[in-house]
Amino acid sequence: MSLMIALHTLAAVIWVGGMFFAYMALRPVAAKVLEPGQRALLWCHTLSLFFLWVWVSIVTLLVTGYGMIGMYFGGMANTGWHIHAMQAGGLLMMLLFLHVYFAPYRRLKKAITADDTAEATRRVGQIRKLVGINLILGLIVVILGSGGRYL
Ligand code: HEM
Repeated sequence: MSLMIALHTLAAVIWVGGMFFAYMALRPVAAKVLEPGQRALLWCHTLSLFFLWVWVSIVTLLVTGYGMIGMYFGGMANTGWHIHAMQAGGLLMMLLFLHVYFAPYRRLKKAITADDTAEATRRVGQIRKLVGINLILGLIVVILGSGGRYL
């Protein structure tokens, strides 16, 4: 259990912390100091590295989350409401990520290859909104996952 909860928490820290840094620190500075073309390029390359870690985090969260439920809780029926809420919030975050990855992010890469700055800027704007939503969801899921059992 200790290994699974440690890996689970690490994956959550990497995913939610990465979104927090991107949204709260890199985004406002990039918007202020870079031209739209350079900004789209920065996001495309930064996200391509970060999204690899998000894939690793998602697999880790699912394997360790359901691993703990199967091996230590004896099934979903024996878990508290906070774990049900974490599962619902977590699955929603994963669906949103899949949408970002396969729709606006894929189109951002195409726009960069085609040197289409207007389209790339539009896609960066879409990704920004969706990552903002996922960041709020992620913060709520962390609060529920860590504090829920003491309520
Ligand atoms: C998607 C399916 C998920 C499942 C099935 C799941 C399952 C679990 C379980 C069984 C625990 C142990 C709870 C306890 O001992 O009371 C836990 C803890 C936790 N989970 Fe999840 N989880 C999921 C997704 C997520 C996501 C997406 C995040 C954050 C982004 C997250 C963050 C946490 C945190 C912060 C803890 C508390 C660690 C601690 O305080 O020791 N989980 N999760």
